[in-house]
Amino acid sequence: MFLIDFEEKDRFQSLEWIKKNKIEIDNKLTLHGAILLKNINVSSSTMFEEIVRIFAKKLYNKNGEHEAFNRSGTVQTPVSYPKDMNLEPHCENTFHFSFPSKIYFSCQIAALEGGATTVYDTRKYFQLLPNKIKERFMEKKVMYVRCYIDGFGLSYGKTLGVSTKKEAENYCHLNALSYEWLGNILKTRAIRPAAISHPESGEICFISQINHWHQSRLEPEVRKSLRENYDVELMPRDLLYGDGSIIEDSIIQEMSEIYKQIEVSNKWQKGDFMLIDNILSAHGRQKYTGEREILVSLSDPINFKSSLCLPNKPFEPVNSVGKITI
Ligand SMILES: [Fe+2]
Repeated sequence: MFLIDFEEKDRFQSLEWIKKNKIEIDNKLTLHGAILLKNINVSSSTMFEEIVRIFAKKLYNKNGEHEAFNRSGTVQTPVSYPKDMNLEPHCENTFHFSFPSKIYFSCQIAALEGGATTVYDTRKYFQLLPNKIKERFMEKKVMYVRCYIDGFGLSYGKTLGVSTKKEAENYCHLNALSYEWLGNILKTRAIRPAAISHPESGEICFISQINHWHQSRLEPEVRKSLRENYDVELMPRDLLYGDGSIIEDSIIQEMSEIYKQIEVSNKWQKGDFMLIDNILSAHGRQKYTGEREILVSLSDPINFKSSLCLPNKPFEPVNSVGKITI
């Protein structure tokens, strides 16, 4: 993660500096995968969006996985997740056919304890993965299974942005999802690559949400309760190899330890801003206490058809820590 420290410059000076240095910041983003803007004092969702728009070519104004924060939907809230649980590393929405290539965060209320956003270099991660795991996922890909059950999590209508079963089916056709109806429950299966080549640099990036979705990463009592309350066919979420076979807990444990080795964490201060290349970096969130408010924006959608799914350039390690003070 690259750090830019604004040392309490006023709002006008900060925004002007970012506009003037946009190309340089974009280059730093491609090198480091994430950039933290400290002491920039983002004081509102309006100022947040002003900064986001300097970098975003196409800003999302809705996303079924997040609640809108502002009226236009360009600023959203983080995904709803219990604050007493760590949110595992993931690249945003990469279980969908189309996903954002850039994401933006700003802290408006810092947690009392914990709540750091953690960042992981997906190129470094791919390099460190043992060949046996890497090859298995490259060959089989990953299957994200989802059951939209009334009263548990988001509805299929809200997530897919549809209002009828027919529209949901059309959505599935257009977004490379296989589906079945179990009464009124929509069950979808998405087979997605675990790693792709970055569309600009060509470097291989491990972009899956494997650790975020696999049940072995849940607290033991949560996993137990899911198993007791849901038939295996009706699990709200499940993760398998792309051929439908079970991913062993031991593999996930090994993968989790590698994430730990490369974790960089940012203890938020009110007003901080973070820019993340959603292909070069995965992110997570530490558990926390107290109140915490983070603004989120997503931009520049890419899909698995337009992205390259095979390596075309050897990985070259970069120094992923750097800092400048403005
Ligand atoms: Fe996320």
